[in-house]
Amino acid sequence: MNPTQKDILERRSIRKYKTDPVPEDLVQAVADAGLWAPTARNEQEIKIVCLRDPALRQQLREDFTASGGRTIRPLPFDYEAPVFFFLFGPKDFPYTEMDSGIVAENMCLAAQSLGLGTVMIGCIRDFMRSPAGAPWREKLGIGEGEIFTLGLCLGWPEGEAKAPARKEGRYAELKG
Ligand SMILES: Cc1cc2nc3c(=O)[nH]c(=O)nc-3n(C[C@H](O)[C@H](O)[C@H](O)COP(=O)(O)O)c2cc1C
Repeated sequence: MNPTQKDILERRSIRKYKTDPVPEDLVQAVADAGLWAPTARNEQEIKIVCLRDPALRQQLREDFTASGGRTIRPLPFDYEAPVFFFLFGPKDFPYTEMDSGIVAENMCLAAQSLGLGTVMIGCIRDFMRSPAGAPWREKLGIGEGEIFTLGLCLGWPEGEAKAPARKEGRYAELKG
């Protein structure tokens, strides 16, 4: 198995992070991996904003919870990862969601190759798109014509994450 195959198979969603900060060059390298992702029609309209400031992060957690935002696990939605990225793009472009997913996965794999952990965060989507999320959209520079798509935690993994089993029967080949 080559290193790329290994990173793809060994990447896990990390929900426990060390408090150690992530060096700036590594944060930038992960963001760059997102910026170099392919995009439909080469639109390159998916934007990434990084938020590390602990006070703002705490405020966001509180605003999310106060608005009725829920997580599956009894943990903060961002797992207190030292770095949190927001992804967003044009509201009326049909590939915004797809492009965001590709950007995010590029970032996850780059992080994996650097020994860093990630987890994509979709559970704040309704909040980020709601009236309650408006102050955050403004702070993050998400314009009127744009839509939040996905969050991404980044940090040094604490412990091992178990790989959920993969469902069978999802690959086939139609032969003539
Ligand atoms: C679009 C998307 C949104 C997700 N949102 C969340 C989330 O809000 N919270 C969370 O803990 N995990 C979230 N995940 C992570 C999935 O739960 C995870 O990928 C899945 O359980 C498989 O585990 P693995 O990533 O370790 O293979 C999300 C994943 C994707 C692709």
